[in-house]
Amino acid sequence: MTTSAIESILWDDWHVVAELARLTRFRRFVTTLLGVCVTLELDPTGTVSARRGDGTIAAAEIKYGFVWICLGTSRRGIVEFAECLEPDRLLATAGSVRVAVSGLRAVENFLDLSHLAFVHAGYLGEEPHTEIKQYTVRPLAEGGIIATGCKVYQPKASPIATEGYDVDYIYAVLRPYIVVLYKANPVELTRKDMIALFVQPVSEESCVAHAFTCYLKHGIDPAAVRSFQQFIFGQDRPILENQVPKRLPLGVGTEIPVRADGSSAAYRRWLSDAGIRFGAIPVT
Ligand SMILES: [Fe+2]
Repeated sequence: MTTSAIESILWDDWHVVAELARLTRFRRFVTTLLGVCVTLELDPTGTVSARRGDGTIAAAEIKYGFVWICLGTSRRGIVEFAECLEPDRLLATAGSVRVAVSGLRAVENFLDLSHLAFVHAGYLGEEPHTEIKQYTVRPLAEGGIIATGCKVYQPKASPIATEGYDVDYIYAVLRPYIVVLYKANPVELTRKDMIALFVQPVSEESCVAHAFTCYLKHGIDPAAVRSFQQFIFGQDRPILENQVPKRLPLGVGTEIPVRADGSSAAYRRWLSDAGIRFGAIPVT
């Protein structure tokens, strides 16, 4: 696929390409987005610039502790999270992990409630609590999907959880490669911690998953958040890399439907309707 053929919904959007801390340390960082080699540089005033392999400049911004770039013509801003403006939150980047699979697979896996009791046993789920209770999935007006009313029993739902409880979940896919999870805080059950996955589509069959957390502060420290998220994602990574094919099939019935729960099916349908091809196997 040539870069000019990449669909506008991806090409003209903002994507995370690095943690700011990494760029601050090295000043210069080379990475790939949507098959395009990009060189990032941070000047002494703290301004970031992005240059494509052909020498042309791409738009770059810093937000949520990450460097974001837009390779095409920006049609809308970087995703906004109202929670990040609340003063009693700890905003933290939680690691960037390279995964040899389509980034769409990484998003779908993040949405998949059915894997928690098996892949993250003892933390985000455990047997015999494997039944997925009914929840609601609906489209978002601005594109994407939202799943509400999800409930999962979790032995250790967050870095500060000391006992298991039924956790209320909300998932939202805001952009094809951006997914966010809201889960009830173990101290303030009526408020929710937020964890986002900003997936950088490197090629159609590889990605970097950048995790961002916005926890209520109650005893949380950034190093604990980071190691918890990296530990959890370390359990997902081999599962993701073993998925065949590496791109996400969008057609109904192309994979065994047991794996694909309601939000996964809705995600694939929305990607198909939105005309997503990069990282996908479109419906033929
Ligand atoms: Fe997982």
